[in-house]
Amino acid sequence: MPRISIAPMMQRTDRHFRYFMRLLSRRAFLYTEMVVAQTLLNGDPRRILPYADIEHPLALQVGGDDPSDLAACARIAEAWGYDEINLNVGCPSERVQKGNFGVCLMGEPGTVARCVEAMRRACAIPVTVKHRIGYDDRDRYEDMRAFVRAVASAGCEHFTVHARKAWLKGLSPADNRNVPPLRYGDVYRLKDEFPHLTIEINGGIGTVDEAREQLSRVDAVMIGRAAYDRPFEIAGIDAGVFGDAGATSSRYEIAEKLADYAAWWIGQGGKLSHIARHIMQLYAGRRGASAWRRALAEGASAEDPEVIRRAAARVEAQASPRAARAVPA
Ligand SMILES: Cc1cc2nc3c(=O)[nH]c(=O)nc-3n(C[C@H](O)[C@H](O)[C@H](O)COP(=O)(O)O)c2cc1C
Repeated sequence: MPRISIAPMMQRTDRHFRYFMRLLSRRAFLYTEMVVAQTLLNGDPRRILPYADIEHPLALQVGGDDPSDLAACARIAEAWGYDEINLNVGCPSERVQKGNFGVCLMGEPGTVARCVEAMRRACAIPVTVKHRIGYDDRDRYEDMRAFVRAVASAGCEHFTVHARKAWLKGLSPADNRNVPPLRYGDVYRLKDEFPHLTIEINGGIGTVDEAREQLSRVDAVMIGRAAYDRPFEIAGIDAGVFGDAGATSSRYEIAEKLADYAAWWIGQGGKLSHIARHIMQLYAGRRGASAWRRALAEGASAEDPEVIRRAAARVEAQASPRAARAVPA
């Protein structure tokens, strides 16, 4: 069975964005933002971990380099009902480097193997790893192969590869997502050489058609920025990849469901802006996109979920005045 995932993204893939993604696709596999192991273990899990039931299938992504801490995180992830726990071995940020985790751990395959082994012992859910091709001068295909071999021998069966290297010095995390060239060929070779492993490709995949094409070479595809910048593209996954007939809702139907969700969230004491910030791009590329964004930005402080429904009705009216007569104002 192929898999399409929405990438873990700090400041983005919180529960509200994930809920939005789930409205767009019943099949996409969702990820939390990265949670640093120490933060989870010393913080309040009731602040960090809650999610809505419909978000399943859902993975908790963690960052760290200490096997016993990560094992404790794995236990917590399982107890909270997450479907998978994923270790971040791809982040190049300075803060993460200082903590000796993220992509610099690609230079310590033995440490990652020990972490994975401890996590696997601690839980029954899959333990997966997200990494890159390499970093700095440790960027040959053979380096990545040795890393994957070591971590697979500890029992990891699913590797998500961001198909570019990272530079630890001199590039910001954002530049590290754009400047090093994509090397899809290295990921295909990994799949060819480790046919028993599940290999997921990530980096620069922007449409459902592109994802489908990738699935002829690898087992799974992870989509990051495109899901945030052009979220309605995700609505094509269920039909386009999984053949679910009639699965796609319209933007207006999605907006209606988001308004219902916002009503619930505000009822819990949450703020409309928590949701509004993630749904600004629902109409990206369509007539009325800027009116939608403006209506959400200006209306969010009212804490009225109907702001979403009204904004969508207005956009639909602009796009198609005839259809608008059927839409409640
Ligand atoms: C704002 C932002 C935050 C990110 N945070 C994380 C993170 O928490 N964990 C992680 O593994 N990758 C993180 N990434 C990297 C993405 O998961 C993904 O690997 C990268 O964006 C490449 O995929 P794309 O070209 O489809 O966006 C982040 C990316 C962005 C844009």
